[in-house]
This record gives sequence, structure tokens and C-alpha cells, in this order.
Amino acid sequence: MVAANWKLNKNLNDVSSFFEAFNKEKSDVPAIFFVSPILLKSAVDAAAGKVEVGAQNISEHESGAFTGETSAEQVKSANAQWVLIGHSERRQHYGETNEMTHQKLQLAVAKNLKPMLCVGETLEQREAAKTMDVINAQLKEGLKDLKPKDLVIAYEPVWAIGTGKVASVEQASEVHAEIRKTLQSLGLNDTKILYGGSVKSANAAELMQDSEIDGVLVGGASLDASEFAKISNAARESLLGN
Ligand code: PGA
Repeated sequence: MVAANWKLNKNLNDVSSFFEAFNKEKSDVPAIFFVSPILLKSAVDAAAGKVEVGAQNISEHESGAFTGETSAEQVKSANAQWVLIGHSERRQHYGETNEMTHQKLQLAVAKNLKPMLCVGETLEQREAAKTMDVINAQLKEGLKDLKPKDLVIAYEPVWAIGTGKVASVEQASEVHAEIRKTLQSLGLNDTKILYGGSVKSANAAELMQDSEIDGVLVGGASLDASEFAKISNAARESLLGN
């Protein structure tokens, strides 16, 4: 599985040409695109069922007087299938807590959206040997008693996002194995775990060859259709063996 996070990029004029180019070059590995709410409907249409589409965030509220927010139901009504929850940029810039990610996960489940929950430590936390404490809290408090059947976890070390500093395969693999143990203790045995943070076509294959890494979540390198298609093709090669 490969996932793209377009963040605050692209507009309605870019969507159809992107998917035309991407759909021509991509492999048959499932791909998900997380786009801004205004792009959702046109991305779903342009994707033509060949890839899946999701929102980058939803409100923790179901509906009501919350100006500027987007609800799980609104995302669903655009025929999008997924929602990204707890991305580190939401946690860092918008004060999103584990309690809020839990509320968002509850709404995603209630509205039949497949959730991708992001977890990861800052450099400071890694250096203080707190990586797994932080991630376990994000997993346990975020999920609590929920067992979403289509849940995917994205491990994204904050120090590797948009910095060009990709985690080594060993670093990523070690954390993925720990995450898998925690998920098993929560009764989630088949959950896929993606790696994210400065993934590009030049390093994607090496990461996905590791049996702990079930795919990648890609920011910057997903904005170019050919570059992201190369990552999709690397996934086809690498994940075959897993
Ligand atoms: P990046 O972003 O690939 O640009 O580092 C990844 C992400 O934030 O999901």
C-alpha cells in the first residue's frame, strides 16, 4: 500500500491531469490520496476507482457550530473512503491531543470511513529514549476500546517529516515491530503499518523490502505524478516478497 499526503498543496485545476498521468504509470498496488477537503470530490471523480481518496483531517465534532471544520459525514458524502487522523502537523500546529484523535477515530468508524492513524516521536523524545512511550500513548489513548476493521497505522518520526532525513531501515523496522506488539495487545492483529518521513523513489524500495514495513506515506514526493508512480512501482517489487 502507498499513500500520498498532498498537505496544503494543489488546486482544482491540477487534479484531473495528475490522475491521468499517475493512473497511466502506477502499479496495481493500492494507493490512497489524502487531499484538502475542497479537492475531495474532484479527486474521487478523477481517480475513477483506480485509487482511493481521503481527507487529511476531520472535526472531532459530528456537526453544529464549528466554523471552518469538515465533518466525517461531509467527507463520506464526497464518496471518499479514508481519513488521516493525528498527523504530526495537526498535533504540532493545531494542538491535537490523543483524546481528540480518539474522538475523530470514533466518528470515522461511525461514518464508515477507513482511518489511517499517524504516530511518531520528535527528535527530543527519541534522544530521551521516550520513542515507544510516546507512540504507545498515541496508540492506546487514540484507539482506546476501538477496533476499526480497516485501520492502518502510519509511523512518521517527526524529525523525518519534510526534512530530507529519512529514518534508516533499522530504525523504522525496530519501531514497526514494537507498534505491532502493541496493536496485538489491543486485539489488532492484521493492521498494516506504513512508514512516512522523507520517502522518495530513491529510498522507497529499500524501506519496503523490510518485512515490518507494509508500505509508505509520502508527502513532498507525492506531488509529482511520475515520482509517486515510481514509488508505487517500487512497492510492487518490494512488497511481493513480504
Ligand atoms: P514528507 O511528509 O514525505 O514530505 O516528509 C510525509 C508526511 O508528512 O506524511
